[in-house]
Amino acid sequence: MSDKYRVGIIGCGGIARLHVHGYQGVEEVEIVAIADPVEDALNDFGESYNIQTRYLDPREMLDKENLDIVSVATWHRLHAPMTIAACARKPKAVLCEKPMGTNLGECDEMLIAAQRNNVKVAIAHQRRFNPVWTDARQLIANGAIGEPRQIVCKGGQGLLNDCSHLFDMMRYVLGDPDAEWVIGNVERKTERYERDIPIEDRSAGIIGFQGGCIGLLLQEIAGPNYQGGIIYGSDGIIDLTEQRALLLNSKRAEWEDRRAEGENPSVAQVQELISWIEGRSGHRGEAINGRAAVEIIMAIYDSARLHEVVQMPVRTHASPLEAMIESGDLPVERPGRYDIRAMLLRGESMQP
Ligand SMILES: NC(=O)c1ccc[n+]([C@@H]2O[C@H](COP(=O)([O-])OP(=O)(O)OC[C@H]3O[C@@H](n4cnc5c(N)ncnc54)[C@H](O)[C@@H]3O)[C@@H](O)[C@H]2O)c1
Repeated sequence: MSDKYRVGIIGCGGIARLHVHGYQGVEEVEIVAIADPVEDALNDFGESYNIQTRYLDPREMLDKENLDIVSVATWHRLHAPMTIAACARKPKAVLCEKPMGTNLGECDEMLIAAQRNNVKVAIAHQRRFNPVWTDARQLIANGAIGEPRQIVCKGGQGLLNDCSHLFDMMRYVLGDPDAEWVIGNVERKTERYERDIPIEDRSAGIIGFQGGCIGLLLQEIAGPNYQGGIIYGSDGIIDLTEQRALLLNSKRAEWEDRRAEGENPSVAQVQELISWIEGRSGHRGEAINGRAAVEIIMAIYDSARLHEVVQMPVRTHASPLEAMIESGDLPVERPGRYDIRAMLLRGESMQP
């Protein structure tokens, strides 16, 4: 019998392929089983990677396969129940997709499940393993732009989806400070959904981080949307994308174009998971960081709901956006539900 870590994947869609890429790049692991209730998805995926042990019911896989590592790669609403189901079977680790949960109540239950069962839970904000972003983090830590004062990002697809990476990026490059306060607003005049979660048409948030840096995120307000941002400091600027960091400061006459090289982020994310399991390091995607990104999002929604500057920690456990929709505080003016990710569904479905 192989002495490799036994991996099972829940949800066989697009992002699960990136998880496979990550696991295939690390010798100590072996993907032994996959689960997805949609037979087509399960079999396509199994055939692509030659994985023969397939389950329509993820809990049956968890019960039978004695897994060491579980990937949760389903849509957002299933992140909490699937992570909690996995933790209850006591694997060594769970790697769950972002956003960690759709509200803070879910995130906290995931943390309880991890602690109760002594399972290491990481959230796949894999850009923390992008060497360019790590380079930016080190530059800032070493004072290359002086005191960081502002980070400006432009995102889309609602705050929970792509923007969760951006809030995570703000924290990552600043050295993971806590958010102290948040003010924000949302506009939702259409019945917009993303992977079955109601999202706003547009939104903006301003975040006050410990240490004094201010984060600003514009969602569908002023494109183009991209993964990255501009970080302004007292003595310089870093203009960051996924591919490069441009650096300017008082020691340079021109912009320096920095392109750090390193391991593929999906592979590096799994390597660090193994090192975490074996007690050689922590994991930079550990769940507490995934929760922090969700908390900033919920604070923006709660600021819109309560018309106030939200002082952290957020004490609303449900999604304030969903609460506003249910209470009628955010009336739709142009009715008709649509999901910007309906193209991911199979067959005739337009809704899950
Ligand atoms: N980290 C990133 O950069 C990144 C990129 C894309 C997507 N994601 C995240 O990954 C998640 C999945 O997105 P996707 O684009 O892969 O979606 P997808 O629709 O391609 O895949 C989801 C899969 O989950 C399956 N599924 C549905 N119900 C299930 C259940 N009860 N048990 C097991 N499987 C079930 C579906 O049949 C489908 O095959 C989302 O939460 C998304 O935010 C992250």
